[in-house]
Amino acid sequence: HSMEEEMEDESMDGHMDHDNVVSLNDSTGENELGIPPLLQSESDAETEYTIRAQKGETEIFDGVQTKTYGYNSSFLGPMLQFEKGETVTINLINELDENTTFHWHGLEVAGSEDGGPHEVLEPGDEDTIQFEVTQEAATLWFHPHPEGDTSEQVYNGLAGLIYIEDQNSKNLELPSDYGKNDIPLVFQDKIFDDEKQLNYEAAANEDGTVGDTSLINGTLNPKLTVDKEKVRLRLLNGSNARNYTFKLNTEDDFVQVATDGGFLNEPVSMNELTLTPSERAEVIIDFSKMDSDENIALINEDGATLLPFEITDQTGKNTEIPDEMNDFSVTEEEKSLPVTKEIELFGMMDMVTINGKKFDPERIDFTQEQGVTEVWEIYNKPDMMGGMIHPFHIHGAQFKILSRNGETPPKNERGWKDSFSIAPDETVKIAIQFKNKGVYMFHCHILEHEDNGMMGQVKVE
Ligand code: C2O
Ligand code: CU
Ligand code: CU
Repeated sequence: HSMEEEMEDESMDGHMDHDNVVSLNDSTGENELGIPPLLQSESDAETEYTIRAQKGETEIFDGVQTKTYGYNSSFLGPMLQFEKGETVTINLINELDENTTFHWHGLEVAGSEDGGPHEVLEPGDEDTIQFEVTQEAATLWFHPHPEGDTSEQVYNGLAGLIYIEDQNSKNLELPSDYGKNDIPLVFQDKIFDDEKQLNYEAAANEDGTVGDTSLINGTLNPKLTVDKEKVRLRLLNGSNARNYTFKLNTEDDFVQVATDGGFLNEPVSMNELTLTPSERAEVIIDFSKMDSDENIALINEDGATLLPFEITDQTGKNTEIPDEMNDFSVTEEEKSLPVTKEIELFGMMDMVTINGKKFDPERIDFTQEQGVTEVWEIYNKPDMMGGMIHPFHIHGAQFKILSRNGETPPKNERGWKDSFSIAPDETVKIAIQFKNKGVYMFHCHILEHEDNGMMGQVKVE
């Protein structure tokens, strides 16, 4: 029907302009939102997990089995909870019939454990990794990263969540009852064919695959039932390419408390929030004074209802959002450092490049010393058609945004980041330090751009 025609037109024109992306269908709210299960450690003495990448079938639509991929389940993955300071062992098993990797997006681990395209597991292969969790409380995620096949594997369902907790996150006493007032929301958009299958090849667009069907945590037509209390939503844009701008249908404010890699110093009030692919944010919505007949929903900028809320008449916890949550700062020294790495993003479709080059697994593009802060300047060079927004991501580190076009970044970007959007003709400066050694990827997180070679490598030594 019309959506498919539109998609075809777009692939014929080629370029996927963010302004003409197909709208999402409204959620009817008929299904309670699924919550990813918390993965339990296999041993009491230490933290040990086993994660299997597998194929399966999932009932997304009533009475229909859709072929999907998942971690330890048929679709998507569990939530892994780490404590700062602990040593985590993860057994990785590839039960797919194709190569995959296990990448920990946002986690500060050695390059050899980061699960980039070099850490391939062939079908049937197993591996064990072990690392210490050294970074502060944050919402991270994991997904595959095999060269050229990341987009298809993520699209089919390989994505899971990681929560890191620490002393600060406990002291803050923000809502933290998992699945009750601390809710993960993994946003993805898909195209289902007439048989209600995910046919990646038919859906794929070189400029980023977008669909008309919104899934949250894999649930179609979700609603979320909440008590009258403050509810923390951990938002992850887990889509291949779509940018989301979240709002409430009432245009009420909500409060952002965390970025990709940690808490903001102070809560930031807003009535809309944009996340490009792979970005996360934690926001708090106050339902405490709302009535159960309130018609309130999380919507997208295009007006689509993403997640209607059903408010019970139960009064929940009376939590206060603290005024001070973190001690993030950009130092004078960081502000005065010279730019030592320049990155130019350019192109569209399969002609995307970084500094004029496509990814080559044999080529190291930059080197950086472990523990030394450098300033990277990223520029999005427009093309004849104006260019497009690229979400830029670096592995293995949380970094600081110093400026956007020379200006201090908005308040809600004054916190640890591992991905950020960059508009055509925009220049973003960041200060980045790697705590570990190894080879790390940097790339556009429109997954088709990544697969098309909009990726480079930094070797930390
Ligand atoms: Cu979300 Cu290269 O990663
Ligand atoms: Cu990553
Ligand atoms: Cu891109």
